[in-house]
Amino acid sequence: MEPDVLIFVKNLTRVYGKNKLAVKVLDVTSLEIRRGEFIALTGPSGCGKTTLLNLLGTLDRPSGGDIIFEGKKISGQGEVSLCRFRREKIGFIFQAYHLIPTLSALRNVLAPAFPLGNDYRPRALELLGLVGLAGKEGRRPDDLSGGEQQRVAIARALLLDPDLILADEPTGNLDSATGAEIAELLKNLNHHGRTVLVATHNPQTAEICGRVIRMADGRIAAR
Ligand SMILES: Nc1ncnc2c1ncn2[C@@H]1O[C@H](COP(=O)(O)OP(=O)(O)O)[C@@H](O)[C@H]1O
Ligand SMILES: [Mg+2]
Repeated sequence: MEPDVLIFVKNLTRVYGKNKLAVKVLDVTSLEIRRGEFIALTGPSGCGKTTLLNLLGTLDRPSGGDIIFEGKKISGQGEVSLCRFRREKIGFIFQAYHLIPTLSALRNVLAPAFPLGNDYRPRALELLGLVGLAGKEGRRPDDLSGGEQQRVAIARALLLDPDLILADEPTGNLDSATGAEIAELLKNLNHHGRTVLVATHNPQTAEICGRVIRMADGRIAAR
């Protein structure tokens, strides 16, 4: 495998249900993601985008096949090592932001570092500045717009300097102008060398990505 391959996927499947009710919702024969790529994962609702992202981020386990991350097989590892993998290697961004409502923007960004005990405060403040939220560190999610909440989520995803950002419909809850700003922010991260995979059915978001992977019925239809 070439050194700049970040993820290699082979015969990856996800089946829901058992026996007669079993439905194979994902069947990806092969997929390679290189370090530094900015990829849009597109396709109609229900085609398997979230399923694939969750498998790559180890939030879900495959029914079959392999995911090789930086040359190491992650499918089949135990929960403790996956937890560490997830924290160190992956930054997640979700459609509905998934911020903790009782915490300030700053504390939300710091949340991934709670178990680590180090002082990540300067880095969190720097990241909030980077995403355009300087001066709003003390605000709770309720006092922020949708676009601002997604900026907090992006800063949180970056806190532990992940190798890969997985974004699932990050602009799905936003108006088109705000969505375009968030997409630009992701693009900027990529310009600084970050590998970004964004599931989206927003053509405007997909347009600015370096590569588009189209899915249909759980399979990769075109790339
Ligand atoms: N927990 C589940 N149980 C059964 N089927 C599921 C579950 N989660 C997703 N699916 C099905 O898997 C398919 C792919 O879903 P998903 O990955 O969410 O698609 P997308 O993100 O592209 O909209 C859909 O047919 C969906 O109904
Ligand atoms: Mg989805």
